[in-house]
Amino acid sequence: MPIKKCLFPAAGYGTRFLPATKAMPKEMLPVMAKPLIQYGVEEAVEAGMKIMAVVTGRGKRAIEDHFDISYELEHQIKGSSKEYLLREIRELIGRCTFTYTRQIEMRGLGDAILKGEPLIGQEPFGVMLADDLCTREDGEGVLAQMVRIYERFGCSVVAVQEVSREETGKYGIVAGERIDEDLMRVETMVEKPDPEEAPSNLAIIGRYILTPDIFRRIEETKPGKGGEIQITDALMAQAAEGKVIAYRFKGRRFDCGSIDGFVEATNYFYEKERGREEPKA
Ligand code: UTP
Repeated sequence: MPIKKCLFPAAGYGTRFLPATKAMPKEMLPVMAKPLIQYGVEEAVEAGMKIMAVVTGRGKRAIEDHFDISYELEHQIKGSSKEYLLREIRELIGRCTFTYTRQIEMRGLGDAILKGEPLIGQEPFGVMLADDLCTREDGEGVLAQMVRIYERFGCSVVAVQEVSREETGKYGIVAGERIDEDLMRVETMVEKPDPEEAPSNLAIIGRYILTPDIFRRIEETKPGKGGEIQITDALMAQAAEGKVIAYRFKGRRFDCGSIDGFVEATNYFYEKERGREEPKA
């Protein structure tokens, strides 16, 4: 079954970016002149997905407005030298459909994914955490690479990267049976372990392909620390049946939910685009 839909859990408060995120969604923070969520949508479109299912929350309306036409603005700059600045987003809007639902209480990533079920239905789907900005200089983007892995194994896929031991406490950490250099069948998964308890240094980042049985597994998950429902327990239930593959992706990832990662991404894209000539109007 081809993967047509990508779920964007985008309801989190983004407290690490206060006060910027007090009245503005974290997903709208720009790296260069493009908001994080637009990079995510572009990556999903490149992976062949056409329906972007966004789980938003209070104060996130700017996301919906961004993926819509702004008649007043477009009228204003029509025929001017700035018109090209809207070309990319216009094309993007034309290539996919956006659907939205709200998470009423921010009860964690697992809960946000479950809230997306009415938008997804009973089919495999991608999950994109837009604050993890991924890029690949040459070749396919991360989600497109993962779609290929899904086509090969037909089960859930999580993107992983090696992190230093001191950082394991920030991630879901996986371990299991190695299939080849970049693939592993997951056997164990621990949410935010201390370095001495981490089963490896392979950390899950914000890209997933999930099979729809994940929804029932999330429903069975008990809330953890702070009343949050994580996705790790539901994935662990799939892993217990050998149905989760960890994929060490090709490319680079910036943790734009943190100030350091965000600044790194900005510097990276600035260097990359600096040499690029401005298209003529
Ligand atoms: P984070 O752990 O980064 O949380 O969520 P956050 O609230 O966005 O940011 P901080 O830690 O307070 O700075 C990971 C992803 O899960 C989504 C977030 O929007 C982000 O994409 N999420 C998290 C939800 O949609 N709902 C939640 O209840 C929690």
